[in-house]
Amino acid sequence: MPYSSSPPQIPTASRTPAPSTDEATQSIAILGLGAIGTLMAWHWREHVLYGITRDNSRCQRTLIDQQQTAHSLTLPTWQHEAIDWLVITTKASATLEALQSVANQLPQVQNILLLQNGMGQQQQVSDWLSQQQCSANLWAGISTEGAYRQNTEQVVYAGSGDTHIGLWQAQHPTASIPNGLTVVDDIQQRIRAKLAINAVINPLTAVFRCRNGELVSHDEYRQALKELATEVQQCFETLQQPLNFDLTERSLAVAEATAANQSSTLQDVLHQRPTELDYINGYLIRQAQQLNIELPLNRRLLAQLS
Ligand code: PAF
Repeated sequence: MPYSSSPPQIPTASRTPAPSTDEATQSIAILGLGAIGTLMAWHWREHVLYGITRDNSRCQRTLIDQQQTAHSLTLPTWQHEAIDWLVITTKASATLEALQSVANQLPQVQNILLLQNGMGQQQQVSDWLSQQQCSANLWAGISTEGAYRQNTEQVVYAGSGDTHIGLWQAQHPTASIPNGLTVVDDIQQRIRAKLAINAVINPLTAVFRCRNGELVSHDEYRQALKELATEVQQCFETLQQPLNFDLTERSLAVAEATAANQSSTLQDVLHQRPTELDYINGYLIRQAQQLNIELPLNRRLLAQLS
């Protein structure tokens, strides 16, 4: 279902000051209350929170924590309040449309954070914000927190992790940061490293319909992992953005550490939801294509899963 559309133009009205911006109390609107959006809302429950859903439905969610305790979260819909942070946790492919759906409200926003898997959407958003002369700072982030949607309204917190954020264009961060986020100055490199691992584990687990650990324990799957990891590693070298680790070893280690998990792509496939692979393997294919390089294994997997 598309985000409710409003003209993708940012009005020129000047920003009214945001409410208190001390470290403890930030005002945050979360666009996309799926697994990670709901989990962040729970982490940030002491802040002033707003939600935005695709169909403007009530932002009512339940988070089941790691002790199996259910927490009910009700977020008022973000309307025209000035906010410190707009956090976008939609799928990568929905990012720009989601942001454009709140274009009228962007003069009220100080910082925009894209917290998602994949690459490509950050630059799309950055280009669009510049065209619109939007003055909000653009941040990007990645998270290793484990959460999955049990149903439309219930999210399970499956495992603790870290969430790193950084300004998309190198500048000095000046904002107060919501709790649980660590600011780094090499976010693009970190996003590339995560993308590389996702480019290996996610399509393979979806094609083989297997849990992450089977990529290590099953000979045929392990061989496929090695071949795909080699292609992805070489792709980054050709792009002159070499990974500073061995991707085969790292992917095997991550698959082993998350052995019991179903990757997010396998979950999407099993629930017949669109996957994020166009912004993972698809992103790599498009980057390589600009240098006339083919990525046959990536292309085949993407075709199998489209
Ligand atoms: O997308 C995912 O599921 C995760 O990023 C990963 C690392 C593949 C583990 O399941």
